[in-house]
Amino acid sequence: METPPAQSEPRLGGSYTFAGTSLRVKRVGYGAMQLAGPGVYGPPKDPEEAVAVLREAVASGVDHIDTSDFYGPHITNQLIRRALHPYPSGLVIVSKLGARRPPDGSWKPAITPEELTSGVQDNLRNLGLEALDIVNYRSMGSGHGPDERPIGEQVSVLADLKRKGLIRHIGVSNVTAAQLAEARSITPIVCVQNYYNVAQRQDDALVADLEAQGIAYVPFFPLGGFTPLQSTTLSAVAQRLGASRMQVALAWLLQRSPNILLIPGTSSLAHLRENLGSCRLVLPREELEALDGIAAEAGPAAH
Ligand SMILES: NC(=O)c1ccc[n+]([C@@H]2O[C@H](COP(=O)([O-])OP(=O)(O)OC[C@H]3O[C@@H](n4cnc5c(N)ncnc54)[C@H](OP(=O)(O)O)[C@@H]3O)[C@@H](O)[C@H]2O)c1
Repeated sequence: METPPAQSEPRLGGSYTFAGTSLRVKRVGYGAMQLAGPGVYGPPKDPEEAVAVLREAVASGVDHIDTSDFYGPHITNQLIRRALHPYPSGLVIVSKLGARRPPDGSWKPAITPEELTSGVQDNLRNLGLEALDIVNYRSMGSGHGPDERPIGEQVSVLADLKRKGLIRHIGVSNVTAAQLAEARSITPIVCVQNYYNVAQRQDDALVADLEAQGIAYVPFFPLGGFTPLQSTTLSAVAQRLGASRMQVALAWLLQRSPNILLIPGTSSLAHLRENLGSCRLVLPREELEALDGIAAEAGPAAH
């Protein structure tokens, strides 16, 4: 891979404060899901590299880690604790609730008040924390996309756990604008975590709405997730700029909207370094226009 263009952006994309909170993070963070074993189940092939990735991320300035106790299950949070506890001040760990992992490795909803409460306790125990900075209620929806089922009952449980001091702030994940509005009628919502990247633009309008409302938008699968992004346009832009495809995909998100925070996932030190380097890449207007064509290139399935 060639060296990206010279640095002209602040470190890790600059900082962002979650509205109504004292939590301030760099815009380039880290998603820990890839640290579990295959299929996000069981231990990683190389636990030492997993620990090294977490330590290097934080040593490089990352102060926003996205996780869940259903990754592994429990294993990813235990790795975070092993690698980073006692946590440096200012590190924001964001977790999510709403699913469980039976022994067959499948994903099942865990949305009763009892399951949500024990999910918070599992996160606290495995991370070694007394309170969780932010918890996203992750609606199961239709897999990686939302449905329109109400989420008020579950968000109310999280609001209650917040009143009890176990959660500091609440977000939602895999939701529609209507579900977000429902959640906001119950409690302040500081972030939305949905499927979005340069080829998956179905949330374009929501990103803009959230920017206007001062709410962070944290795309999951920023690099395409289980099927990393492939596009001739992405490759061509990367080649012209002397960067990698993944750096271009992340730089596109950083330039897309100032309320977007990145949580790219990797189990590899080399990929971590590459991904953190995305903040040094500035995409000129003509390249942004070319990248805007990728969703169309990918076809209607991308929307
Ligand atoms: N709320 C939700 O429903 C939800 C759903 C999914 C994920 N998430 C969160 O979002 C985070 C990001 O999503 P994700 O990790 O699933 O997907 P992602 O960040 O889009 O992509 C991760 C995949 O890309 C590969 N990769 C990473 N950097 C690379 C690079 N520089 N070059 C080539 N390949 C690279 C990774 O493999 P290597 O390990 O080999 O690098 C992995 O296969 C997760 O870690 C998790 O915290 C949330």
